[in-house]
Amino acid sequence: MSPISTSDIKPPSQLSFNGISNGNAVQPQQDPEYLSTQPGPDHDWKVSLKNKVVAITGANRGIGLGIAEVCLANDALAVYSLDIFEPGDEFQAIRNENPKRFHYIHCDVTSEESITSAIDTIVANQGRIDGLVANAGMTKHQPALQFDHAQLEQLFKLNVFAAYFCATAAAKKFIELGVRGSIVFTASMTSYRPNRAAPSAPYGATKAAVRNMTHTLAMEWAKHGIRVNSVSPGFVKTAMTYFVDQAPDWKLKMQYYGGMPRLADPKELGGAYVYLLSDGASYTTGVDLPVAGVVGAW
Ligand SMILES: NC(=O)c1ccc[n+]([C@@H]2O[C@H](COP(=O)([O-])OP(=O)(O)OC[C@H]3O[C@@H](n4cnc5c(N)ncnc54)[C@H](O)[C@@H]3O)[C@@H](O)[C@H]2O)c1
Repeated sequence: MSPISTSDIKPPSQLSFNGISNGNAVQPQQDPEYLSTQPGPDHDWKVSLKNKVVAITGANRGIGLGIAEVCLANDALAVYSLDIFEPGDEFQAIRNENPKRFHYIHCDVTSEESITSAIDTIVANQGRIDGLVANAGMTKHQPALQFDHAQLEQLFKLNVFAAYFCATAAAKKFIELGVRGSIVFTASMTSYRPNRAAPSAPYGATKAAVRNMTHTLAMEWAKHGIRVNSVSPGFVKTAMTYFVDQAPDWKLKMQYYGGMPRLADPKELGGAYVYLLSDGASYTTGVDLPVAGVVGAW
């Protein structure tokens, strides 16, 4: 590794300030190689997704659908669910409440081609894309000694590889369009500590990988004006966790876990995503927001 020489560090007087057009306003730019994320004079300080087009993977149900609903409630211009299964009644109900703003594109996020094509379709339809939530994921609960190679591969393929390719496909499009885009991963509290409700060592490892790459991608892509963050949910009431509060010892567990003794409604995570997707988070990048009601948090 070569040491950093003091000649590599430019004093403020040598920083060039180019006027570059970024959306509505001409922004001061600190370095020709950096797309400025500095709020301009017409910056809207209300936390809102007004005029923003957002893609969410796995938003046909569960947490993704909850995020979509809250993005729509916060004025997103359009929200796209990129999902492998056809939408069900829950999705249709939210689509009916938000005519022409909530869309579905069939997409298998484990295929780079499928992700790229979905993002291209969004841009063809809306003329833009401002945010991507890499949310689709799966778990497998069983003791560590019982996992075989194929099971591990399936978990890593969806939770890590697909999340990575969703992020890179979105980043390439943001760079091509000159958009100060936002990428948000759905990580998990299991990225910090074991899931005490069910054994799932490989799942926790996939989510730790996601949380870790958040930090590095944020560092690498800051020069493109792209922010990368993650949200770590705790227990959320979805198909993935239907069994958690059915356990006979649930009440006793809650007594010892501390915090809010319940699972979250998926929509209760939405505000964290809306913030990270919004211009209100213009200086927020490379962080993880744990949203876990403290339940068994640490
Ligand atoms: N439920 C929880 O308590 C909890 C807690 C922490 C983190 N998470 C994470 O939140 C995310 C969403 O979980 P959930 O509970 O809503 O799960 P879910 O199973 O209810 O929803 C997952 C969605 O992803 C879609 N999907 C699966 N494979 C796909 C693929 N190859 N391509 C496109 N879409 C695909 C599914 O069709 C589904 O709509 C996951 O990443 C999960 O690991 C969930």
